Amino acid sequence: MVDRRQDSSSVPGSPSFYATTPIYYVNAKPHLGHAYTTIVGDALCRWHRLLGDDVHFLTGTDEHGLKIQQAADAAGMPPQQFADSIAPLFADAWERLDIRYDDFIRTTEDRHRRGVQKLLQACYDNGDIEVDTYRGLYCVPCEAYYVEDDLENGNCPIHKKPVDHVEEENYFFRLSRYGDRLLQWYADHPGAIVPDYRMNEVIGFIKQGLLDFSISRTSFSWGIPLPWDDKHITYVWFDALSNYITALGYGDPESQDPESLFHRRWPVNYHLIGKDIVRFHCVYWPAMLMSAGIEPPAGWAVGGWLLVGGEKMSKTTGNVVNPLDLVDENNPEGVGVDGFRYYVLAETPYGADGDFTYEGLVGRYNADLANNLGNLLSRVATVVGKKCDGVGPKPSPDSPLTAAAKNAVEETISRWADVQPSRALEATWQLIRATNAYLETNEPWKAEPGPAVDTVMGDALEALRIVAILASPAIPRTAQAVWERIGMVEGGQARVDDRRVPVDVAWGQYPGGVNVVKGDPLFPRRNIS
Ligand code: MSP
Repeated sequence: MVDRRQDSSSVPGSPSFYATTPIYYVNAKPHLGHAYTTIVGDALCRWHRLLGDDVHFLTGTDEHGLKIQQAADAAGMPPQQFADSIAPLFADAWERLDIRYDDFIRTTEDRHRRGVQKLLQACYDNGDIEVDTYRGLYCVPCEAYYVEDDLENGNCPIHKKPVDHVEEENYFFRLSRYGDRLLQWYADHPGAIVPDYRMNEVIGFIKQGLLDFSISRTSFSWGIPLPWDDKHITYVWFDALSNYITALGYGDPESQDPESLFHRRWPVNYHLIGKDIVRFHCVYWPAMLMSAGIEPPAGWAVGGWLLVGGEKMSKTTGNVVNPLDLVDENNPEGVGVDGFRYYVLAETPYGADGDFTYEGLVGRYNADLANNLGNLLSRVATVVGKKCDGVGPKPSPDSPLTAAAKNAVEETISRWADVQPSRALEATWQLIRATNAYLETNEPWKAEPGPAVDTVMGDALEALRIVAILASPAIPRTAQAVWERIGMVEGGQARVDDRRVPVDVAWGQYPGGVNVVKGDPLFPRRNIS
């Protein structure tokens, strides 16, 4: 497993941007649903790097609890060894999907154990953790407690399977004491949860009245013991949620230091989460933090589910799509890493459910990548090759494309600010469309070489330069390839992702006088087999 743990991206004086993905259970291999949230997080962080923010992106794996213990038993392995065999699959998948994370936390690490115990102790010392007897219902695949009203025909509403009746002595977190404080906090922080309809759901849930929740179990041993009573193992969600601060070194004495990672990074800007884990993240977690005297998160970005055949993909339902098959270079039906990333980001408005189909994936790929972006680059490179001796001309300062470029930039900025990647890409693609239309109107391929052709081609190259920057968070490899082919490296700027928004996306900076290379098609068209 590659150790990417670092905070080397730290840029003195730049605003901190800290974002997290959920940590994924190691009972299953990485699938499309995991990839979805992780790609959105990665693209959002890449966008913030373009804005010049000092970004820290955390992901990781959730390795404790009954569900993992049972999966390890079924595999005939001790749980640690089992977790050790699966966690690297996530890190490898993220490498292959070009996920640029700064830290990968595993909940079986010592830094995590120290932090969880410190947080538990802080809540306990504050009087919010008390012992009681728990009698009720539990779904192991969810690792969640239910009441009768939550069930559908007596089954777990998510897994559609019977739940367990459990009765045992548990410690409880007194969530019921936090209803008013949470409502007040949300009233003071409008917009903390995006999309806003998710905020309304959270507020509605809190207003119904909050029940205390069990934070420990005695019936199994795979987890972190409570610091004051080691017969009890920490309930998996208390353990899991803490990762967002334990990864910042919350468990270490140095975390008191104002220069520490914890102080510099907390509160998190966005927890990226799926809609199924909103209650844990937006109700339990801020209450736990308040109890321990820590500021709640600054934001949550809640995504819908990517459904396959109308069902949430999961090991339990058996409809798992492996993203790595779709990006495999040797798979003739694959669409490459950027083809897949683009689909995931562009197809579904973040927040809503999406339906994954192979036809949809290929359709998007052909329409937006092969026909629009790929075709634009290939046309431009061909005409520059034939009519401008392969050397890109300078753009015109008052090109008819300036308005389209300005709109695309403004709209892309504002959509990313709302954590709406699909709309941000739609805005960026407007510039691609406008540039293709500009070429079709001017038909430089029919004209004699000369200043008129040069002007049109300089403008188109400038539009491609701006598009490469704006699209780089979504399709980093392609953006770099476009950058290189239009001659920006020769122009003295090696990497597209070192550019800054908005300064570098203002019209008129394509240097001209640099070689433009046609190369192989960026996105060969795919046929649906
Ligand atoms: N381990 C917990 C999260 C703890 S975070 C402190 C967990 N793990 S999970 O592996 O089951 O899922 C993690 C996230 O992936 C969830 O937010 C879930 O919504 C998301 N996805 C899993 N399958 C999904 C889809 N099919 N579609 C979109 N996201 C889904 O829950």
